[in-house]
Amino acid sequence: MDTSTFDRAVDARVHNYLAGERDNFAVDRAAVDEMITVVPQLRVMAVANREFIHRATRVLVERGITQFLDIGAGIPAHRNLHDTVQGAVPHARVIYVDYDPIVAVHARALLRSTAAGRVEYLDADLRYPATILTSSVLHDTFDLSRPVGLILSAVLPSLAAEDYPWSAVEAIRDTLPAGSCMVVTHLASDIPSGSGAAAAKLTAIAASHGLTLFPRGKAKVIRFFGDWELLDPGLVPVSAWRPNEPGYDYDLSGAWAGVACKR
Ligand SMILES: C[S@@+](CC[C@H](N)C(=O)[O-])C[C@H]1O[C@@H](n2cnc3c(N)ncnc32)[C@H](O)[C@@H]1O
Repeated sequence: MDTSTFDRAVDARVHNYLAGERDNFAVDRAAVDEMITVVPQLRVMAVANREFIHRATRVLVERGITQFLDIGAGIPAHRNLHDTVQGAVPHARVIYVDYDPIVAVHARALLRSTAAGRVEYLDADLRYPATILTSSVLHDTFDLSRPVGLILSAVLPSLAAEDYPWSAVEAIRDTLPAGSCMVVTHLASDIPSGSGAAAAKLTAIAASHGLTLFPRGKAKVIRFFGDWELLDPGLVPVSAWRPNEPGYDYDLSGAWAGVACKR
């Protein structure tokens, strides 16, 4: 992906702006501002998504997983996945993957391994999973006989059906050993209080700013898990997945979220 010009919005910077961070440009902010006219809670949805990822990651750590592959990682933020993981298990290993060179620049500048644990970055495209699965970064960093936590947070809506996102994810699932778990969030086309009612408009606005964005319904999202076993409570709106507080705000829940593990 060419992010050398700033005449159109790009995913990573749009998400960075949504998350209240500062590594973005006027074109990205214009895209978000227009999307917010049709989905006013888009910003709180981004926060709810991040909170879910940290909750789910802690569950994976409790299951003994200490290696994490975060694909479509985005520009590093104030609290990153490895902060949560290595806060609990200092020797844990995390590989961030993204296809956007701007993410690579930020990641290489900001993400550091510690004396105990490792943090690596891989410049690769999820649409071509073999580039991830055969990479020396993956094989040098992980012990692939041991379980891996696969994180796919808000990345799959960037892939069109023609990109075969289900096949790409299946290729990765098939490579990971028993005990591995995957965490998925996906912008919903069928949660009316979230982006659902405005899914088509959201896609159109995104396209007019040069972004690809495909909200999907529950049946299509659940297919990403294949035959892996969904942990309770299944595929649910992000804020409903094991919330820290009882009850949840349905209005924040514009995305599906789930965690599944390989037997
Ligand atoms: C909406 S952001 C989500 C960032 C982060 N995962 C989060 O949840 O905060 C999507 C990220 O996926 C990346 N991305 C989109 N398509 C990709 C692909 N085919 N391969 C790798 N990364 C991709 C974008 O560059 C962007 O950084």
